[in-house]
Amino acid sequence: MNWGAIDRYAKSLIKEAGQKIKNSFFTEIEISSKSSVNDLVTNIDKEIEQFFITRIRRDFPQHRIMGEEGFGDTIDSLEGIIWFLDPIDGTMNFVHQKRNFAISLGIYKDGVGMLGYVYDVMADDLYVALKDEGAHLNDVRLSDLNDTNIEQAIIGVNATWVAPNRHVEHEPMIELVKTCRGTRSYGSAALELMHVATGRVDAYVSMRLSPWDVAGGIIIAKEVGAVSSTLRGESLGLLRQETFIVANSSIHPILLEKYIHLKK
Ligand code: IPD
Ligand code: CA
Ligand code: CA
Repeated sequence: MNWGAIDRYAKSLIKEAGQKIKNSFFTEIEISSKSSVNDLVTNIDKEIEQFFITRIRRDFPQHRIMGEEGFGDTIDSLEGIIWFLDPIDGTMNFVHQKRNFAISLGIYKDGVGMLGYVYDVMADDLYVALKDEGAHLNDVRLSDLNDTNIEQAIIGVNATWVAPNRHVEHEPMIELVKTCRGTRSYGSAALELMHVATGRVDAYVSMRLSPWDVAGGIIIAKEVGAVSSTLRGESLGLLRQETFIVANSSIHPILLEKYIHLKK
C-alpha cells in the first residue's frame, strides 16, 4: 500500500472540503436536530460527507468508510482499510460561531491507525500524522510532550460532570477541578485532541464519543506520546460509542485512578 500517495490524496480532499464549508457561509444553511434538540446537523454536514464518500468510493473502491451522517458503509469489523470521517466535528460551533469546528479523518488498516487528520477549517490549521513518522501542524513537526503533574495541568472537561450526573462520580471531579491549574471546554472533540497533542491542554475527557470523533485525532496524539483510552483504561474499540480520555502520559494513570470514577 502506498501510504504516501494516500496521504497526498487525503490532504487535497480535506482542503477541497474545507473550501466548500467556507463557501457555504454565503448560502442559507438548513439546520435540524438529531437525537435531541441540541444535537444539531446541517445540510453542509451531509453534503461534505457525501463529497468525501463519492470521491473515496470512486478512487479506492476496496476501502470502506464509516461516516457520522450515515452515507458510508455499515462497519462491524475492523478488517481491511477503513476511513473514519466526521465531516464537521463541532457542528454547534459551526452553526453558532462559524469557527472552532474541524474535519476529522482517520485511515486504519486492520484496526491500526495509519493516517490521521484534523483540519481546523477557519484557522486553516491542518494537523497530520503518519504512523511512526511523527505529527505535523501545517508541515511543522510537533514536539513530543513533556511530563507534567495535575497541579500544573489544564484539563479539558465539560462542566456537566462536576454537577451530580448519571455517568461519573462528581465529588472526585470537583477535587480534580480544584487541584488542577485550570479547565477548558472547546466543543469539538477533534480540536480538543489537538490541544492535547500540542500541549496547550494536558488532558481531555468525554463520557461518550463515536469512532469518527476520535479516529483521526488519536493517531496524531499518539505520535507525540499522548495516551488515549476509555475511562476504564481499556483500549478503544472504534466500532461503537465509548467513554474517552486522551492525556499527557504522565497524568493519564492518576486521572483514572484518583479523579474519574465511572458509576456502575
Ligand atoms: C460533537 C463534538 C462535541 C462532543 C460531542 C460530539 P459533532 O461532535 O465533538 O465536542 O462533546 O460528544 O458529538 O456532533 O459536532 O460532530
Ligand atoms: Ca463529532
Ligand atoms: Ca459531526
